[in-house]
Amino acid sequence: MSPRTVLITGCSSGIGRCLAYGLRDHGYRVFATARQAADVAALAADGFESLQLDLDSSTGIHAAVNEVLQRSQGRLYALINNGAYGQPGAVEDLSRATLRAQFETNVLGTQELTNLIIPAMRAQGEGRVIQISSLLGIVCLAYRGAYNASKFALEALSDTMRLELRGSGIYISLIEPGPITSRFRDNAYTVFKKNIVRENSAHRDYYARVEKRLGGTTPLPFTLPPEAVLKKVLHALAARRPRARYAVTFPAHLFAVLRRILPVSWLDAVLAKVSGSGQR
Ligand SMILES: NC(=O)c1ccc[n+]([C@@H]2O[C@H](COP(=O)([O-])OP(=O)(O)OC[C@H]3O[C@@H](n4cnc5c(N)ncnc54)[C@H](OP(=O)(O)O)[C@@H]3O)[C@@H](O)[C@H]2O)c1
Repeated sequence: MSPRTVLITGCSSGIGRCLAYGLRDHGYRVFATARQAADVAALAADGFESLQLDLDSSTGIHAAVNEVLQRSQGRLYALINNGAYGQPGAVEDLSRATLRAQFETNVLGTQELTNLIIPAMRAQGEGRVIQISSLLGIVCLAYRGAYNASKFALEALSDTMRLELRGSGIYISLIEPGPITSRFRDNAYTVFKKNIVRENSAHRDYYARVEKRLGGTTPLPFTLPPEAVLKKVLHALAARRPRARYAVTFPAHLFAVLRRILPVSWLDAVLAKVSGSGQR
């Protein structure tokens, strides 16, 4: 039997990179994509079938999907929507362009890609779409509004697709990690400095603390390596009936429960406290 094919976005670092290597080790045929040519070349040098895929480019998404489907005779068992970034900043300090950019990558490009793959999955009568969401798709933390909103949108689109794909053989699973070792924080710091005007903000004192946290190297409490995500992804790919949601890390499990049982005012008090400590 030929190996099952998987397309992964954002394989240059962190979770995506770990998934690419881990799934290959488990016998999957991995199309490892990255948005920058140098990362594509590095993945190819490591023996991957690697393609350039920038979620901000419709043309690029179409080209990558055509290429993958051509190479795999129109079949793709699974799509793993991993590529994304986190735009920090108070909601009142987000420009329209900054908020739009967050949605372009994390939501719109991701959904465009998914919608191009689903017809092939429908034709073959099976498929898995695995969405790397976040603890911040379960609850919101202060100063992460753009990212919170993008992951809540991803959750809503996934919950809707799950209803619409009933009986098709295609399963959607949301992976909801808390803090995982990756380049996420470095990349968030870059867009924080680039897109948030700090000087005159009502939140400038908080921003001064954020700079220390994002610019620092101390891991957040309860941080796990990306292999913790790989474990859940392997289950979502192989299980006869994969789960709709997989929490990863202690905070993700905890907040999934707290959101259900606490009154809003209590939950807000906990989330406000955690927001300051930088959990994600
Ligand atoms: N690390 C955490 O604590 C954590 C927690 C919960 C959820 N997550 C989620 O896990 C996923 C992976 O993040 P990570 O932690 O592994 O962070 P990371 O190391 O920063 O990796 C993010 C990946 O997404 C790619 N990416 C960014 N913008 C893109 C675009 N426009 N098109 C295609 N790819 C793009 C990055 O590519 P470049 O290298 O080119 O920027 C990189 O490969 C994300 O969905 C993130 O929201 C992470």
